[in-house]
Order: sequence, then C-alpha cells, then structure tokens
Amino acid sequence: MKFFTIIITLWVATLGYAHPHLHWTPPGPGDVRGPCPMLNSLANHAYLPHDGKNIDVAITKKALLDALNIDEDLGQFLFENAIITNPVPNATAYSLADLSRHNVLEHDASFSRQDAHFGPQDVFDPKIFAETQSYWHGPVINVTMAAQARQARIRTSNATNPEYSLSPLGRGFSLGEAAAYLIILGDRDNHTARKNVVEYLFENERLPTKLGWQRPEPLVTFVELQDVMGKLYNETDPDIRTLARRGMHG
Ligand code: HEM
Ligand code: MG
Repeated sequence: MKFFTIIITLWVATLGYAHPHLHWTPPGPGDVRGPCPMLNSLANHAYLPHDGKNIDVAITKKALLDALNIDEDLGQFLFENAIITNPVPNATAYSLADLSRHNVLEHDASFSRQDAHFGPQDVFDPKIFAETQSYWHGPVINVTMAAQARQARIRTSNATNPEYSLSPLGRGFSLGEAAAYLIILGDRDNHTARKNVVEYLFENERLPTKLGWQRPEPLVTFVELQDVMGKLYNETDPDIRTLARRGMHG
C-alpha cells in the first residue's frame, strides 16, 4: 500500500513539474484546420476542439493559457481578431477554416504557405518553407535571421504574385507571427529559438515537447510580443517595411 502511495505521489509530482501536454492525434475526417501552425497544433492536442470548429472566447483564452501561458489580454486580443474571420454577422465563435479567408487575417508572403493566388493558402507547403529555412543559418534562429526570412518571403511574393498584397493588418500579423515563434518556442532573454524546435512545430503541427520544449514561463504578454515585433521591424530593410502592393518598392 505504502509502495503504491509513493509511486502515485511521484507520478503526480512529475506531472506537475513537467506540465504534460494533452495527447496528440492528427486531424481526421470532418476535422478542419487553418493557416496557423500553432492553432492547428493546439487542435491536434485537443487544447482547442479537435474538429477545429466553434471556438469561442473562453475556449480560445483557456487553450492559449493552458498550453502556452499566454495571458488573458493577449488571448482576448487574438480572439477579437479571429472572430472577424467568421462571415456570419454577430458570430461568437470561429473555426480554424474561417482563419483561411484571404486578406482578412490570412495574408500573402507566409513563411510556410503559398499565396492564395497560387493555390490553397492554408496547408503547409515544403517548397515555400524551404525559402524561409534557407535564412535560418545554423542551429539557432535569432532576430536578424527571422527578419530576413520574413522579408525574403515578402520580396519573393511581390516579385512573383501578380495579385500580391499585404495590408497594414497583414504586415502586423506577419511581424507578430515571427515574434510569436521566437517567444513561444524560444529563449525569451535572447530572442532566439532553436531551429529544430521551430521546424518541428511547422512540419508536424505538434508541440515540440519531445525536443525538450516546455510551456513558457512566466506569462507571455502583449508588451513582450510588441517588443520583439519592434526588434524584427528594425532588422527589416526600409524599402519593404511598408511594401503593401506589387511593385511598390521604396
Ligand atoms: C499564422 C491566426 C496564435 C504562430 C497565422 C495565420 C493566422 C493566424 C490567420 C495565417 C497568416 C498567414 O497568412 O500566414 C492566429 C490566431 C491566434 C494565433 C487567431 C490565436 C487565437 C498563434 C500563436 C502562435 C502563432 C500563439 C505561436 C507560435 C503563428 C505562425 C504563423 C501563424 C508562426 C505563420 C505561419 C506561416 O507564415 O506559414 N496565425 N494565430 N499563432 N501563426 Fe497564428
Ligand atoms: Mg498566408
């Protein structure tokens, strides 16, 4: 009896310490996914509904907090942006598929998805991702590499996609996405992330726990996100900082 008590106590202690993540299963028939590798991962782990549908404000905030330690205000902000992708007036929930609607939040020049002009903009595309990866020199991604990868994708889209566009909201989101992987997956003191950890999330849509990644501590806030977005912006060439439409260099 005593033996079992010890085993169970140790097991519970380990759970509390390592913050185990929910079981991962890939999307099945009827499940929807979208253009965000992190939200897709959270649905695969069932932090979000596994079918990817009917995601309301409470579900969004709880998933972001439980899985990633994202604070209430940033969770609220992200939900308020997500909800505009549901075309139904006064909707209170969105689906991961809604997030794929082009030029609402989804935008051109993604790190791992093709532009909507060329085909589906929601699914992982290894060829597009290869361009991004080619700027991640070495085992650790820093702010400069993240900024250069992002700007390369913007330059390529602008040069090849006759319908290229990136609205101010799209540009903001794109900077936020680069900041998000550095913060949520990386070393928050140095604004770096291990390349294999970031690649694992994109390629598997699964939290990279088996590579030693753990839920961030302390809370992730909007202030920190904006700080890293500012650093990325400063490392971006001036001519593409505001590149909104095809051919509008400078
Ligand atoms: C991409 C929404 C949370 C990381 C996207 C895109 C959308 C989106 C619409 C597609 C943009 C594009 O066209 O590339 C959301 C919403 C969130 C959320 C509504 C919360 C409710 C997060 C979090 C992370 C994250 C917490 C943390 C790492 C990314 C990354 C991309 C992305 C790295 C870029 C994918 C690419 O360019 O291929 N997100 N996202 N997102 N998101 Fe999220
Ligand atoms: Mg896109």
